Amino acid sequence: MSARGQFSSRLGFIIAAAGSAVGLGNIWGFPTQVASNGGAAFVLVYLLLTFVLAYPILMAELTIGRYAQSNMANALQKISPTSLGKIVGKTAGLWGLAVVSLILSFYAIVAGWMIAHCLQAITEIIGWHQASQWLIEFSITRNLIFCILFSLLTISIVCRGVSDGIERWSTRLMPMLLILIVSLILYVSSLEGASAGWEAYLVPDFSKILTPDLLISAMGQAFFSLSLGVGTMLIYGSYINKKENIVLLGASVALVDIGIAILAGMLIIPAMYVALHNGVTIFTDAGELIDGDRLIFTVIPQLFQAMGVAGNYVSLVFFVLMTIAALTSSISMLEVPVAFTIENSKLNRYKASWLIGSIIMLLSSTLIFNFEHLFGFVISLTTQYSQPLLGLVLCIYAGWVWRRNSILEELKQGCPEIESSFFWKIWPNYVRIVCPIIIIVMFYQTTFA
Ligand code: TRP
Repeated sequence: MSARGQFSSRLGFIIAAAGSAVGLGNIWGFPTQVASNGGAAFVLVYLLLTFVLAYPILMAELTIGRYAQSNMANALQKISPTSLGKIVGKTAGLWGLAVVSLILSFYAIVAGWMIAHCLQAITEIIGWHQASQWLIEFSITRNLIFCILFSLLTISIVCRGVSDGIERWSTRLMPMLLILIVSLILYVSSLEGASAGWEAYLVPDFSKILTPDLLISAMGQAFFSLSLGVGTMLIYGSYINKKENIVLLGASVALVDIGIAILAGMLIIPAMYVALHNGVTIFTDAGELIDGDRLIFTVIPQLFQAMGVAGNYVSLVFFVLMTIAALTSSISMLEVPVAFTIENSKLNRYKASWLIGSIIMLLSSTLIFNFEHLFGFVISLTTQYSQPLLGLVLCIYAGWVWRRNSILEELKQGCPEIESSFFWKIWPNYVRIVCPIIIIVMFYQTTFA
């Protein structure tokens, strides 16, 4: 057990976990959801859901992980006193592992597109228009090449281990991400048309606030954005030093995640209105703002085009930003099955990373060859259905299965005064009762109502 990895410092953990949380979900998912769900109204609901639902589950994952010092399948077995609890726990852990592998398999495809768009900005600058065209056109070859390239980057970081790979690269990449996003916001805000975007972002449309659609989107977004349910945060929790106060660490991660999402909104929404000002279509025929892949791969690139020569450079910065965000997230996804394999077989980290990474590349290729049928299906199977259900399982384990005394003991390490804190008064009953009810009601709404 002495060979177990650990984050080298408090800040190292915060940056790595924030790196996991901050990803395409923040920079792409969040702004587009804001745009189509009533602007600031969505932001408010999202903030609320993050604090009342996502943060408590994040804490459950971090605490279970640090206590058990292992992956989710082994950890849930460890905290169950009964043999039924152990079997269900192991199954849930393996299910989480399968889900996160599937998430990575589609995430790597999308991240590959981001790399292709980075290169396209460069080929445009050099004047290789044919290459540019190929880089942005949807084709099996392009999708495969860039997905594999992105996966190789991910594997080469994870195989170096927790502090030398994940932590080191997160601390290198996350500051860059922040600098790039702030520079882009400043630049876009200085362009004509941006103020209409700020207005659309900041003025809430309360008529949309309580529709089930908005609530469900906000819940899905909160789960995805904080990387919950599949054991990512649990395994990161297992690498936190016992001296650290995990209540505060968890809160910092949630705050950074929300902060970057809100910043991304300040970039994307004004950018859409600048595009509108430049004659780009940003509304669908039904009068809704264009979202999803058409936003990122059609509207935003058209905006760059309308900017002339400078547009290529801005485009390069934007897609580098996207690639960085994706990479610090993908390493946290790959870490889940890799940690499981290391802890349950004789393979070392290096071999496990390449083996699992290759299996996931095969999964991605299957998605690429059957794109129409599988891509959207896998996304909704994993993020819409599995993540909330696994979140429910985690609440049940943290709230009902695991003995409260040992939770308290675990939290006391690094925070001796926890027993009299506000957190301890609220959180245990929260994960026990409130979170499961919210998840069940919402899940029922998405699936059956
Ligand atoms: N949270 C990341 C994002 O916003 C994606 C991510 C990383 C993730 N690890 C995860 C999503 C585990 C679900 C499960 O893009």
